[in-house]
Amino acid sequence: MTQDTSHVDAILSQLQTAGASYKANTPGAREKLMGLGYDLISSLELPSEAIMRMGWAEPARAANCRTAVDLKIFDHLKESGGAGITAKDLAVKTNADENLISRIMRHLAAMNVINEKSENTYSSTTLSDALSESRYRDGILFLYDVAGVSFRHLPEYLKNTNYALPTSVTDGPFQAAHKTDLTAFAWLDKTPPYLEAFNNYMSAYRFGKPSWVDPGFYPVSERLVEGFNSEYSDVFLVDVGGGKGHDLHELKAKYPQIPGKLILQDRPAVISTVSDGSSSFEAISHDFFTAQPIKHARAYYLHSILHNWGDDDCIKILQQLKPAMRPGYSRLLINEIVVPRQNASWPITSMDQLMLVLAAIQERTEAHLTELLKKAGFKIIKIYSYESGQESLVEAELDEPHL
Ligand SMILES: C[S@@+](CC[C@H](N)C(=O)[O-])C[C@H]1O[C@@H](n2cnc3c(N)ncnc32)[C@H](O)[C@@H]1O
Repeated sequence: MTQDTSHVDAILSQLQTAGASYKANTPGAREKLMGLGYDLISSLELPSEAIMRMGWAEPARAANCRTAVDLKIFDHLKESGGAGITAKDLAVKTNADENLISRIMRHLAAMNVINEKSENTYSSTTLSDALSESRYRDGILFLYDVAGVSFRHLPEYLKNTNYALPTSVTDGPFQAAHKTDLTAFAWLDKTPPYLEAFNNYMSAYRFGKPSWVDPGFYPVSERLVEGFNSEYSDVFLVDVGGGKGHDLHELKAKYPQIPGKLILQDRPAVISTVSDGSSSFEAISHDFFTAQPIKHARAYYLHSILHNWGDDDCIKILQQLKPAMRPGYSRLLINEIVVPRQNASWPITSMDQLMLVLAAIQERTEAHLTELLKKAGFKIIKIYSYESGQESLVEAELDEPHL
């Protein structure tokens, strides 16, 4: 039987072009190349192989990574350097069964998480080295134990609710999975290891991706530095719900001449963990459902905030900013995924799914965001996106700037 290889041929020829763009450092080329790689696998993979991969290869990889984090296997691999380490030595170091370790390592190597140097000897990869750092390791911890459990419960939850769209932050897939009636954030506060894991992971989950302050993304100098007026306020930017301040550190590092103060705001449980802000920013506890205390800053910046809340809550958050903003001067900056109308990539669609299971909310399209901002009394000036980037920077201002 002859098979139609035209689709595979088309991908192979696109790979050539995308490979050349990647070598030339063209923005978006890396993502394009990876997308073609996934397309190639999808067109070659048999349905039986796809089910095997989804049904047991990937769950086993996730479970093995979680166990490897518990046993500090990625740290041991890193320490072993280029020589690598045998499963036998790893078993001694981790106090675990040698046969079990061998089988875990074999699967992690088959799934490209680690390297198999020779029979039963393993060495690290860029990925496994990253997983020895707390910020990435905590991603495995949080996503496996907190988000993963919620995904496992999603089909049953949807069946039990007759496939209605989950809309309650206190009664959704997360609550069903974790047997709680707290919101995900309130639950995290009461479960400190996961709160810490979440906060650490938040500082790394976009690592290496284009950031809004990178050249070619949002023109910080032109849109914010120019026109800054210290007579209105000495505050340049307020990072509302800014976590531990990683975005402010980056802004300060890339724009050391920022003309005014930077303010970090978050919940007390997060602000109390911020120790090294003093040189770059001032950290204050603030509940963004209450009136914004910093008046007339040049910009109020919300990164991955609105996607955590339903429309009504977003409107409440945005309305708390309005009285603080100086009409015609203060800008609202929303750094979020803006879902394209067609062909959204898996990092975007899966983030939407993550939002669905954790807080019964969603990523928004441009039309949805425009409507939401309008209801809250803002209008979008422009949406800045980076080639094949995940997040966009939405610049907005008060809808009635001269009132
Ligand atoms: C998804 S994280 C985003 C953190 C950071 N902006 C970033 O993009 O990495 C959401 C943040 O909102 C904070 N948050 C949640 N509820 C809040 C509230 N009521 N007031 C202030 N911050 C809140 C959380 O503590 C968390 O740091």
